[in-house]
Amino acid sequence: MSDSSPHSSPNFEAFDTLATMVAVVQADGECLFANAAFENAMRLSRRAVQRSQLYDWFVDSQRLRDTVQGVARNAYSSSRFDALLRRGARQALPGGQADELPVHVIVSQTEFEDLVLVELIENAQQTRQDREERSFDQVQATKELTRNLAHEIKNPLGGIRGAAQLLAMELAPDLQEYTQVIIHEVDRLQSLVDRLLAPHRHAPVVGDVNIHEICERVRSLILVEYPRGLKMVRDYDTSLPDFRGDREQLIQAVLNIVQNAAQALQPQIQAQIQGEGARITLRTRVARQVTIGKQRWRLALELHVEDNGPGVPAEIRERIFFPLVSGREGGTGLGLTLAQTIAQQHQGMIDCESEPGRTDFRMTLPLP
Ligand SMILES: Nc1ncnc2c1ncn2[C@@H]1O[C@H](COP(=O)(O)OP(=O)(O)O)[C@@H](O)[C@H]1O
Ligand SMILES: [Mg+2]
Repeated sequence: MSDSSPHSSPNFEAFDTLATMVAVVQADGECLFANAAFENAMRLSRRAVQRSQLYDWFVDSQRLRDTVQGVARNAYSSSRFDALLRRGARQALPGGQADELPVHVIVSQTEFEDLVLVELIENAQQTRQDREERSFDQVQATKELTRNLAHEIKNPLGGIRGAAQLLAMELAPDLQEYTQVIIHEVDRLQSLVDRLLAPHRHAPVVGDVNIHEICERVRSLILVEYPRGLKMVRDYDTSLPDFRGDREQLIQAVLNIVQNAAQALQPQIQAQIQGEGARITLRTRVARQVTIGKQRWRLALELHVEDNGPGVPAEIRERIFFPLVSGREGGTGLGLTLAQTIAQQHQGMIDCESEPGRTDFRMTLPLP
């Protein structure tokens, strides 16, 4: 808080827990407070941000100037618009470009007369959060539908199989071929339905889980399957604490993701190209103030499974977490659905960024 402030040090520290950038300014644009997210985004120390004029940080600040003054004058209580934030401008080398960040700006009144609250939401962040919330809802809805459908299919299957067996006993051997087809197809459906229902059937076995132990297990399982031509890189943040969870389920989830990566890399593994061969990286990181679904967590861990394969086919990129969506011959399309369900049972989530040459599946799990 600047000494020249006429206010009795209102406390804005609570804004530090927000993921969006927040600044408290005077009508003249002098910045009295900037929260941690703002500081991070500007790549500046708080002291430097707080001594400056908010208007200096915008590419074209006229709109902001007018709005802040309007709100401070009580002409309106709140207003929003899009703008371009200029960051790192102060350190930009001569001739160097400061980079610009598109933001959505929300200016509103505070309880303190002539102090104005300026909230900045990264446009990319906003769309990403929207997308995540939407896909979270969609996954929930699909899961429910799938589960109900699976139950409806499962119930009559036993009856059909039994009837086919009885029929077989009545039929001449040369006709039993047909009942065999029925029984065989019923068994196939049965196992598909069982796999659709699998993640919901067992009560979770909760214990202390170490994410790196999980990674190591998955790594060794994959290396047994792909002993040559696949490089598994480990990049662990060993300061990550243990957490409560179902170890076996989490191994299954991570295994499904890594197995997909290895399958996508199959041509590269076979070619064993010199130099840049097939590579999967397991990376763990700590994350702060993350939103998962609709809940915010102070602390979480991120496990990235990154591969240098061809990327998720564009046609299915938006749907890979839905059941029965598969981009490969003989795939069931259940691997990622199950992985996502397991992550969600741990209050976490999995998302994916993919382009040719780099696919990154990120599993985020909240930490205590
Ligand atoms: N790392 C990856 N690289 C490229 N495509 C991937 C990757 N991971 C998943 N996919 C795509 O997502 C699809 C769905 O995966 P999944 O749910 O495990 O089902 P399945 O493996 O049975 O096809 C895969 O078929 C594949 O097309
Ligand atoms: Mg799979």
